[in-house]
Amino acid sequence: MAATADHSTTEASNSAYYVTTPIYYVNDRPHLGHAYTTVAGDVLTRWHRQRGEKVWYLTGTDEHGQKIMRTADAHGVTPQEWCDKLVEEEWKPLWQHLNVANDDFIRTTQQRHTDRVQEFVQDLFDKGEIYKGGYEGPYCVGCEEYKLPGELLPGATEDEKLCPVHKKPVEWLEEENYFFRLSAYGPKLLEFYAENPDFIAPASARNEVLRFVEQDLKDLSISRSTFNWGVPLPWDEKHVLYVWVDALQNYITAAGYGSDPERFAELWPASVHLVGKDILRFHAVIWPAMLMAAGLPLPKRVVANGWLMVGGEKMSKSNLTGISPQQLTSHFGVDAYRYYFLRAIPFGTDGSFSWEDFSARYTSELANDFGNLASRVAAMVGKYYEGSLPAATAAGAAEQAVADGLVTAAQVADRKIGEELDFAGGIAAVFEFIKQVNGYLTEQEPWKVAKDTSEEGQARLATILYTAAEALRATAVLLNPLMPATAEKLWESLGAEPELGPLAAQTIATVADWGRLPVGATVTKGEILFPRLEEKPAA
Ligand code: MSP
Repeated sequence: MAATADHSTTEASNSAYYVTTPIYYVNDRPHLGHAYTTVAGDVLTRWHRQRGEKVWYLTGTDEHGQKIMRTADAHGVTPQEWCDKLVEEEWKPLWQHLNVANDDFIRTTQQRHTDRVQEFVQDLFDKGEIYKGGYEGPYCVGCEEYKLPGELLPGATEDEKLCPVHKKPVEWLEEENYFFRLSAYGPKLLEFYAENPDFIAPASARNEVLRFVEQDLKDLSISRSTFNWGVPLPWDEKHVLYVWVDALQNYITAAGYGSDPERFAELWPASVHLVGKDILRFHAVIWPAMLMAAGLPLPKRVVANGWLMVGGEKMSKSNLTGISPQQLTSHFGVDAYRYYFLRAIPFGTDGSFSWEDFSARYTSELANDFGNLASRVAAMVGKYYEGSLPAATAAGAAEQAVADGLVTAAQVADRKIGEELDFAGGIAAVFEFIKQVNGYLTEQEPWKVAKDTSEEGQARLATILYTAAEALRATAVLLNPLMPATAEKLWESLGAEPELGPLAAQTIATVADWGRLPVGATVTKGEILFPRLEEKPAA
């Protein structure tokens, strides 16, 4: 069997692998936590592109609601001005800087979104899924969510209660609102989860959702009339749509729902919604219920990542490390940044990170194990063969072991990254292979073999160097989704392109076919992939 199984058998042949990130609130600039989810989605989609699949990667911004309105007010600008500024000056530039290859960027203030949202809710209203009622309860503006009295924490005074996530006082809201009949969907949701055991991952997230839905669901308040920064309800313009109900629809409005049926058929249902575990219920309970009510298919999977933690708490705007993504990339480089968080923290679990841990992994895994291997091999091909890759004429068991190691690495990485979203496990498999190649060189000692001028000695030397270079060829392909700029440098230094074509055109299915790198390829000692780190900048 090839390294890649055919994963598309159950899907229509024209359907794309469609991945989404949460759309982020633009009340502030992006931080490490936001970048964590977005980079993960980028690696996942690049992996599927490397399989040769049709892929669509969506990210964007959530721009309505009280939180944004208050922030804009506090800065003396209109909410739209605030959003435009933050999106153009902070959010889009960061994704570009981190080499995120999203295919679309949706903003909830765009008309392509708001028009469709109005149609969607009007449809639910016409179907009797939405009714008018009253609601009062504690509301957290940070979460943009009514809280249950039981989950609140005590505040400074007897009357004050705090949001368990933001640790800030909740407000008492009393409103005449429109409600969505969420309570009617409990049994249908449970049935759906039972029939689709992979719908929610990881297992801890799935269990949490099951426990939540097994209790009686309450109807959901979906409109606000105390402020106007939102999408007006088409049948009652005194109300704007609750920001979450507005936001969730980005996944379909960006995919052509109601505007481009052909595109919508290709993209929907989404393959994966990536979410932080804090917003799991919105995606795994409310969103599926809304889709059921509208008669639309449900996304295939909702995968929750854990939190980046600071001092035992979720990293958030009010609780930062003081380190921005750009500070880390200017010290470690963009590719090391992309590597580090996905390698160091198992996806789905919470994790802390530290400058020291990052430095240690950079030096031992990236610079020593990987970077040195690449530069040593290129240097030896340069020194002994004037940069022209020799043929492996004397391959034996040791070379076969390397080729076998590659098959395993490719299969494991494809399953873990491409299917299970176990990025740490998949990356580890590739780096195991890199270790194996280092071990092979240490054992074979090409620098000593080079001194043996016999025909046999020269054939050994050529074989060893071909084997190492061919292993690097495959490594460039396997690491391209994770570290595209580094992989590209390696691809260039191996002289692979003239014969094999661009790196992006290489597929995971053929990556482990041994012997693809052509004899005679022009190997050059390119730039150092991971230069020695400077001193840590003063805090
Ligand atoms: N606007 C909503 C999402 C609407 S989706 C239809 C929202 N936005 S947010 O700006 O608060 O970003 C939430 C997402 O950012 C989280 O779900 C998670 O994916 C990511 N993260 C924010 N802080 C994080 C950490 N500290 N750690 C890991 N991910 C974090 O909620």
